[in-house]
Amino acid sequence: MTNPRDFHDDPFVRNRSTPRLVVFSGAGISAESGISTFRDANGLWEQHNIDDVCNIQTFDENYDLVHKFYNQRRVQLGTVKPNIAHETVAMWQKKYGADRVSIITANVDDLFERAGAEKVTHIHGKLTEMIVRYGEDAEHVEDIGYNAFDIEQWKLHNVRAKPNVVFFNECFRYDAERNKVPIYDHMMDVLRTLTHEDTVMVIGTSETVVPIWYYIEARPCRTVWVNPENSKHGQYDTSFIGSACRHILNIDEYLVKERME
Ligand code: APR
Repeated sequence: MTNPRDFHDDPFVRNRSTPRLVVFSGAGISAESGISTFRDANGLWEQHNIDDVCNIQTFDENYDLVHKFYNQRRVQLGTVKPNIAHETVAMWQKKYGADRVSIITANVDDLFERAGAEKVTHIHGKLTEMIVRYGEDAEHVEDIGYNAFDIEQWKLHNVRAKPNVVFFNECFRYDAERNKVPIYDHMMDVLRTLTHEDTVMVIGTSETVVPIWYYIEARPCRTVWVNPENSKHGQYDTSFIGSACRHILNIDEYLVKERME
């Protein structure tokens, strides 16, 4: 396999010249679009056992159940829309450029892209993609949009598939160039370059799976937290306690413009 780091040819990582902004988001940013988070009351992990639907070690025995779970989420994704938080973050990247605004998300929805974002790093994969293996051929990634995977039909044609979503106990993901890369390497490359002029904005994550505070606390950048709950791990420089949609326009007006323009 080619050195996966070769694929970190990211203009943001190379750009050292101007104040930059990293937006790291979790399920909370999509909550107001109607997509369930994982660990809030009545969240996905309250309704489903993680080990039944998101654990690579039990995938084979739960093959049909897993596809039914992701089919439901994929079809629902086709019925919801980006909210003002996705739109504002996408606007930042379009306005300031992908070499100055890096969008990194643990979400598998495509709402940033549908809001117009040009470059999004999905560290946990994309719900609209399937990793497919025809018979003994090598696996590859296919875009299946918001369609339900037809388990029986694909079995008839000796096709094996897995949602392009990173399951627990997996170490690699498929990146936007559809290369298999270590899950968090690119995110670490981005965070490693941060200087005192840069800002990291963390929106809508419980920090349970990606303890983002521990990756940025030693960096000299400014840190911003957006969540109805306080961070469990760290003291961010600025915290907006409340929903992303409620605060995002103020953040644009009084924090992003002031720093980026
Ligand atoms: N605006 C901002 N934040 C919100 C909103 C909102 N409207 N609603 C909820 N939140 C916050 C919650 O307070 C919580 O801190 O979003 C966070 C959601 O946390 P989780 O459900 O744990 O989602 P996330 O942090 O993205 O989970 C990370 O865990 O199971 C894995 O792969 C899955 O990528 C996921 C990872």
